[in-house]
Formats: sequence, structure tokens, C-alpha cells
Amino acid sequence: MDFTLHRSTLTPGFSHRLVKLVFSIALGVVVMSAQATTQGTQMIHQYPSASLSHYGYLSDKTAVSKVTLTNKHGIEVDVISYGGIITRITTPDNKGQMANIVLGMDDIHAYESANPYYGAIIGRYGNRIANGRFTLEGVDYQLGQNDGDNHLHGGHNGFDRKNWAMVPFTTENSSGVTLSYVSPDGDQGYPGTLDMQVVYTLTNNNTLDMKFSATTDKTTIVNMTQHSYFNLAGGGSILDHQLRIPSDSITPVDSGLIPTGELMPVAGTPFDFRDFKTIGQDINTNHEQMARGKGYDHNFVIKADIDDELIEAATVVEPTSGRQLTVLTDEPAVQFYSGNFMDGSTSRDGKPFDFRTGFCLEPQHYPDSPNQPAFPSTTLSPGEQYQIRIVYAFDVVK
Ligand code: BGC
Repeated sequence: MDFTLHRSTLTPGFSHRLVKLVFSIALGVVVMSAQATTQGTQMIHQYPSASLSHYGYLSDKTAVSKVTLTNKHGIEVDVISYGGIITRITTPDNKGQMANIVLGMDDIHAYESANPYYGAIIGRYGNRIANGRFTLEGVDYQLGQNDGDNHLHGGHNGFDRKNWAMVPFTTENSSGVTLSYVSPDGDQGYPGTLDMQVVYTLTNNNTLDMKFSATTDKTTIVNMTQHSYFNLAGGGSILDHQLRIPSDSITPVDSGLIPTGELMPVAGTPFDFRDFKTIGQDINTNHEQMARGKGYDHNFVIKADIDDELIEAATVVEPTSGRQLTVLTDEPAVQFYSGNFMDGSTSRDGKPFDFRTGFCLEPQHYPDSPNQPAFPSTTLSPGEQYQIRIVYAFDVVK
């Protein structure tokens, strides 16, 4: 397979543009482009754009809003204030056909009642903390236990369930939305008031660039990430997707998916994704780690140094559509989850999300770091700035 990048092939279907144009004229919101003539012969949309609309109401009547970002190639991203959830990312395939490549639910009621973190901002702590316990500066903390005895993705009422403030913006080459939320001292058991901003920026280079930042007024722990589930074919099994993760080792887990503290080299194991292979190729291999995760649900180490260099965490290609996703980050690891707990109990448009029909690539620090002194630290102190970056780069291959 040819994995060469063909950036210039990313142009939206003509019909898509036409429908949009007609719709916009009907609404009377067509913006004259810079090149528009006074005769009106060249009326086109002003892209990039960011539009704010009402999405629905939570059960306590709180209003949830939605921002739709569109770039000049017709890529669209929908974000809702509830959980900062990315509900839709529409990209073209190698024939220009648009499809939504992320899993999501029908409406706010579905998200509020049973969302397995589809598209959500995760925090305060992405992935698991053993028994929900940790000690910081001599003080013991007990967090909510929402995954057996363990704490997962920030607890029962994590950032995926908070209604964030949203402010859309546009620049010459991008459109975006700034989400903010203040998590009070003691929220889900965590110390310190955490003042956060997450900025999602869709660029004309076909990237969704996400910056997460936070400050605290007491020493605390933070490990945020983005939990989009992808299916680059727009539906069906993900096992034929080709995946590369430039990682030499994973942090192996015990039966509760808590890291043992060791590093396990991937060489000679089903976890070796250093060259492209399908997600399905080795997923049923008899390997203790594979049995514990019920498939891939592991933290892959991608850099040794904690710095702000943006590197490739993973690249995925779906051979039929040619869609390619590269995930870039400055984080030291990426959790690759192959949808092993998916069981058809959630759906969109009447279509259930079955076993392994979505995968996640969640850049983050290692799970359970507060209890693992050898792992890179997730401690944030007053006066420090937490700042991480995750980029989804969309492309197509022939
Ligand atoms: C975790 C899985 C978990 C899933 C929930 C992933 O990040 O690693 O163990 O089941 O999130 O959607």
C-alpha cells in the first residue's frame, strides 16, 4: 500500500458546496468574499467559519450549545459545551465523498445518560488510578471509584460531564472554540481549584489543533486528554484499519488494567506497531496482556523526555476510503483502545455501535502515575502552568 501523503486531493465534493451555498442564500447569510464583484458573480462563503447554535437541554434544564467549525476544504467539526464533546468530524475520502469519522450519540439526552466518553474532554485524570487513592505532600486523597475499585477518567462526574463555557473565534486561516471551566477544590475528591481552558482550532491545513491548559491554587494532579472514537470508514469494523505507533514499549497492566510499573518492549509481541499493520492482525493472539485488555487497551510510550516537542503518536489509514489520521502530541504516551468494551448498547441514527467499531488514541501521561514514582510526574503546583497539545491531522492516500 502507498502511504504517501496527497494533501492536494483534499477537496470537498461539489454537491456538498452547492447544497451549502443554496442553503446559505436562503438564510440570507451569504458573505461576499474578498474577490466578490459588485455584479455579485462570485458570491462564496467566507471560510473558515465558526457558528454557534443551541444544542439542547440537560435534565436540570441547563442549556447546551454547539459550535460548528468549517475550514476552506469543507472539513467540519461539531463541538458541544457539555463535556467539550466533539460530536462530529466530517472529512472527505479519496473520491471527495464526505463522511463523519467519529462516534457520537443522537442528542443531549443520550450523552447525559450513557456516554462511554465518546468525543469528550477527559479529566482531571485520564485513565485509571489504583483504588482511587494517592498521596501528595503527605496527604492521602480518596477519589471516586467508578471502575470497579479503581478511578477512571476523572470519576463519576468528570470533565466529560461538565458544561463548559464556549467562545467561538475565527482567524484568517482557522476557526476555533475556546472552552473554559473551573473545577472547584475537592471536585471528585481532587485537591485544588483547577482553572482550565481547552482551545480547539480547525486549520486550513486540515488539522484540529487542541491545546489544554490549567492552573491550580493547591498542589494537585492533572492528566487530561481527548477521547474521540474514530472509524475512518464512517462505520463497520475497525480491524482493517492500518495503524502505526512509533513506540518501543508499553506499560503492561494487571487484571484491573493498572500498570505494573514495568516497561514491556513491544518487539516480538502483538503490541509492535512500529511498522504499519492492521489493528486486527494480532488482536486475537494468545498473549497475557491482550487477555487483560480484552484486546488493545494499553499505554504506549512514545517519548522519554518530558518536553513540548510535537511528535507523531500514531498514524491510521483506512484502505477503502483512503482516509488517514495522524495524531501528534507533546505528551509522553498514547493510550490505544480498540473498542473492546463496545457492545452495541449505544447507537446513532438507529445504528448500534458494536464490538470494535471505534478506536481511541488518547495522548496522555501514563495511567496511575501518582502511585508510580518511576513514571513521569503528573503533579501540578500553584504558580505552574499545565499545558499539553494534541493534534489530529486529516489526510487521504490514494
Ligand atoms: C480506557 C478503557 C475504557 C474506555 C472507556 C479508555 O480510555 O482505556 O479501558 O473502557 O476508555 O470508554
